[in-house]
Amino acid sequence: MSSLTYKKLVAKQFAQDFKSAIEIVEFPIPEPASDEIVIRNKFAGINAGFDTLLCRGDVSYINLTPPFDLGVEAVGEVVAVGHHVKDFQVDDAVVTTVRGGGYREYQAINANLAVKVREATPEILTLMPTGVSAMVALEQVGEMKSQEVVLVTAAAGGTGHIAVQLAKLAGNHVIGTCGTDAKVELLEELGCDRIINYRTQNLNQVLKQEYPNGINLVFECVGKQVFDTCVDNLAVRGRLVVVGFVSEYAKNLEQVTQARIYHKLFWKAASVRGFLMPLYKEYMTEGRDRLFNLFYTNKLKVAVDSTPFHGIESITAAVEYLLSGQNCGKVVVRF
Ligand SMILES: NC(=O)c1ccc[n+]([C@@H]2O[C@H](COP(=O)([O-])OP(=O)(O)OC[C@H]3O[C@@H](n4cnc5c(N)ncnc54)[C@H](OP(=O)(O)O)[C@@H]3O)[C@@H](O)[C@H]2O)c1
Repeated sequence: MSSLTYKKLVAKQFAQDFKSAIEIVEFPIPEPASDEIVIRNKFAGINAGFDTLLCRGDVSYINLTPPFDLGVEAVGEVVAVGHHVKDFQVDDAVVTTVRGGGYREYQAINANLAVKVREATPEILTLMPTGVSAMVALEQVGEMKSQEVVLVTAAAGGTGHIAVQLAKLAGNHVIGTCGTDAKVELLEELGCDRIINYRTQNLNQVLKQEYPNGINLVFECVGKQVFDTCVDNLAVRGRLVVVGFVSEYAKNLEQVTQARIYHKLFWKAASVRGFLMPLYKEYMTEGRDRLFNLFYTNKLKVAVDSTPFHGIESITAAVEYLLSGQNCGKVVVRF
C-alpha cells in the first residue's frame, strides 16, 4: 500500500442538508487488485439533487447505512493497472459512473466499470451519465417522435441542455424554460425554438396563447407549480416525463391536497411517466456510444458551467450552487 494519501467525501450521518451530512476523510492511495485499475479523478460531476436526497436517506431504491461514499460520475487518468487487466494502460483517460466513485481524488475499481475516452475533460461529464439520462428519458419513456412540440424545463441545466438538442435533432419544435438572460443566450445557441424565461414571462400564459393544441412531450425537471402547469398544457395523448423535482430538493417534500391527477389526464388520454436512469441501465452502453458520436462529430454542443470549484473541499459549495438554480450547463468540480 502506498504511503501517499488521497481525500474523499463521505456521508457520516443522515441529515436534512448535504453540508451537515458529510465529512472529508483521508486514506492511503490504494494498490489495484488483479482485475482493477486505479484512477486519479480529474473532474467529477455534481448531482446535487441525488446527493441531497441520498444524504437524507430519501432515495428509496438504495439502502445505505452511513458512513458511505458519495459522488457518481468522474473522469480521470489511470495511474496503476492490476496484473490481469489487459485493456487499460497507465495514462489512459477514462470515465466512470459508479456510485461512490465521484467525490474522491483516487478510486480503485474493476476495470470493466471504466470506459476509455479521448481526453479526461469535464465535457465528458455532460454526456455520461447526464446526457444518456436525457436520451433515455426522451426516447424510451417519452416515446419521442418527430414534428411534435417538446417542452424541456430547466432547459439550460446539465441534463436539460442535452435534452433540448436531442429533441431538436429528432426534428421537433422545442420549447425551453430557464430563469436568467445568460441561460436564454445558451439556449439560443443550441437552437431552442421558443425560450421562456419564467422570471419575466408567465409560463402558463405563454403555453396557452402560443400552443393552444398543447405540448406533446414534456421533459420535466422542476416540479411543484411548473409540473402542474405542464400537466395542464399537455396535448391529447401528450406524455410528461418526470425527470426530477429540483424545486423540492433543498426543502422538505411538499404536501399537496387537490383533485386527483387522473381528472386531468383521462380526458386527454395523456400520461405522466416517472423516469429513473438506474432502472433503465440496459440502454446505457448504446446511448453512450451514440452520444459520444454526436459530440465527436460536432452535432451536439455541451455546456459546462464556468464557475470554478476546486478540490474536495469545494463540493458542498458546488452542491449548494446547483440547488440555488444559478448554474448554466453541467456543474463540475476539478481535483
Ligand atoms: N431521473 C433521473 O435518472 C435523473 C438523472 C439525471 C438528472 N435528473 C434530474 O434532472 C434535473 C436536472 O438535474 P441537473 O443535475 O442537470 O441540474 P441542473 O439542471 O444543471 O440544475 C438545476 C436547474 O434547475 C433549475 N430550477 C428551476 N427551478 C428551480 C428551483 N426552484 N430551485 C433550484 N433550481 C431550479 C435551475 O435553472 P432555471 O431556474 O434557470 O431553469 C437550475 O439551474 C433534476 O431534477 C435531477 O434530479 C434525473
